[in-house]
Amino acid sequence: MKVKKAIIPAAGLGTRFLPATKTVPKEMLPIVDRPSILYIVEEAVRAGIEDIILIAGRQKTAIDDFFDVSYELEDKLAKDGKTEMVETLKKIRSMANIISIRQKQPLGLGHAVLCGRPIVGREPFAVLLGDEIMISKADQETTTETLAKSFSSTGLSTVAAMEVPESEVHKYGIVEGDKNADGTIRVRNVIEKPSKGQTQSRWALPGRYVFSAEIFQYLEETKPGKNGEIQLTDAMLQLAKSQGLLASSFQSRRYDAGDKLGFLQANIEVALDHPELSQSLREYLRRLAQTI
Ligand code: UTP
Repeated sequence: MKVKKAIIPAAGLGTRFLPATKTVPKEMLPIVDRPSILYIVEEAVRAGIEDIILIAGRQKTAIDDFFDVSYELEDKLAKDGKTEMVETLKKIRSMANIISIRQKQPLGLGHAVLCGRPIVGREPFAVLLGDEIMISKADQETTTETLAKSFSSTGLSTVAAMEVPESEVHKYGIVEGDKNADGTIRVRNVIEKPSKGQTQSRWALPGRYVFSAEIFQYLEETKPGKNGEIQLTDAMLQLAKSQGLLASSFQSRRYDAGDKLGFLQANIEVALDHPELSQSLREYLRRLAQTI
């Protein structure tokens, strides 16, 4: 079965980016000249997703507006002969069908995903976290594509996993499991932000998932866990125990754009590939490296 719907949870408070996120959603902070959310929507579209369910909180109307028409702006750009930019804006708004749902209180990632249930119904769906950027080359498979393909061929929910050093294990949801012959992991256990020594596993969840609709049933039953939030990882564990769950590595470069350092790294690396900026930034970084 093909995965055609995706949920993008973007209703968190973004406290790591205060004061900027007091009025600007972190998903609208730019990586060079495009908001983070655009990279995420593009990844979904490249994986064949047609309907995008955006879970937004207060002050998130900027995200909705970004995917909507701006008559005044487009009219002015057209009159000024800036047809290339008009085309870019048109392309953005016709990329996918964006459906916006409000999460009235930030009760956790699991709760945000559950908010998408009325639109997803009984279909399998992808989840792409609004503050995790995955950059893949034009000829490379996107992470969501890898997961959707795994779902189509195995019928099993599949989540992205990456190896992290021991010192970073406490920052992530961690999966434990056994390697299959094809390199995927059959998940046995899922632990939300384990404390030191709680797990030997280094397989962390970077925020890309494809689930069968059964996950909603487990989310409904999930009681608030760590930090009083409804944790997606708790429902994933139930899914792993009942239907089975796979974890897969991926090819893309990944940045935690909800974290200040990750956000800066994404900006620098994307700018290094940007035709307008590549050379001058490279020269600047070389000069700077000699002074620090
Ligand atoms: P994070 O925990 O990284 O986001 O959630 P946050 O709470 O906004 O960040 P900080 O720690 O306060 O800076 C991961 C993703 O889940 C979404 C966030 O928007 C982010 O994309 N999320 C989280 C929701 O949509 N709703 C929630 O209740 C919690």
